[in-house]
Amino acid sequence: MAVAREHLLEALRSVEDPELHRDIVALGMVKDLNVDAEGNVHATINLTTPACPLKQHIKEEVEKALLAIEGVHAVDVSLTAEVKAARLDPNGGKAAIPGVKNVLAVGSGKGGVGKSTVSVNLAIALARQGARVGLLDADFYGPNAPILLGLEGERPKGTPDGKIHPLEAYGISVMSVGFLVAEDTPLVWRGPMLHGLMKQFLEDVAWGELDYLVVDLPPGTGDVQLTLAQSSPLMGALIVVTPQKMAIGDAKKAIAMFQKVNVPILGVVENMSGFVCPKCHEISYIFSGGGGQRLAEQFQVPFLGQIPLDQRLGQASDIGRPLVATEPLEEAKGVVAVFNELALRLAGRVSVVNAEGIA
Ligand SMILES: Nc1ncnc2c1ncn2[C@@H]1O[C@H](COP(=O)(O)OP(=O)(O)OP(=O)(O)O)[C@@H](O)[C@H]1O
Ligand SMILES: [Mg+2]
Repeated sequence: MAVAREHLLEALRSVEDPELHRDIVALGMVKDLNVDAEGNVHATINLTTPACPLKQHIKEEVEKALLAIEGVHAVDVSLTAEVKAARLDPNGGKAAIPGVKNVLAVGSGKGGVGKSTVSVNLAIALARQGARVGLLDADFYGPNAPILLGLEGERPKGTPDGKIHPLEAYGISVMSVGFLVAEDTPLVWRGPMLHGLMKQFLEDVAWGELDYLVVDLPPGTGDVQLTLAQSSPLMGALIVVTPQKMAIGDAKKAIAMFQKVNVPILGVVENMSGFVCPKCHEISYIFSGGGGQRLAEQFQVPFLGQIPLDQRLGQASDIGRPLVATEPLEEAKGVVAVFNELALRLAGRVSVVNAEGIA
């Protein structure tokens, strides 16, 4: 006798999304569920991100649950993904950008801790998982994206309806003030001008359909950063720190700043935490259990991981070829594997914050 579909669905209620802590049926993740007369089941599970850190686990749990049913002969599970759009506070006066589901800021209190390096490599790592990703270089005083992505001297084109097309590199859409001004022009913006620039970069750029728009913020926690954080439709912020005491102190101010304007903290990443042997590429975490982790614990926000010092990161940036883009996903090791892993954790956090509406 053929197995009833209801029976299969019931079994899938025992499969929990390990991050969202609800069953996949209640979460609406079961897209297709068919069984033929021989007991061959086909299920399609729609994940909340193509960069789901636990996709293999979920797939195996679905197979296990279905195979346990009497009469089920074989199970074939397909995975698809659909990123949910952030729910922005309607009273916050922040207009969502049409087509852009999640705007994430990368911030730090201190300069030079690796925000731009982290933003670029994480954006590309997310895109390599199949997500649609944009990068907004909001460091209006010292834009780095043109160099980091090998786009120096390129100029974006206008659209027929008066918007600007972002440039494309390594599978992501990119916009930077560096594309609009000559390289040696000193960039002197005053507060109100910066606010206008940010608005234009968010609203007047033809971003198209994006799952994640990563915003590389300028260093510091002054008025400029506060205005940018307050006026942008951010769904969350990633904090980059280095293990040194001073960077940690400044990162506390950055966390406090985002919390003040109700932007959830997606997590803390500790950069330059250890080193990579230039010969064998093995990672040694010389500052293990360092300040980043303690900072995250103190503010009760997730610690997403450590990125070691690797001189290849700087070299790759200098030639405009981000390191994550240089190794195939399956063969990634060392610091590239670290970035790929961090991208999954970050995407997981976005899904959790969007599902629960909590930081
Ligand atoms: N993990 C790392 N290993 C080696 N070099 C790194 C690492 N992270 C960043 N760097 C290098 O450190 C320098 C500063 O990094 P980056 O420009 O990304 O920092 P930032 O926080 O964006 O700086 P700013 O505050 O000026 O915007 C760059 O030369 C970069 O190549
Ligand atoms: Mg920077």
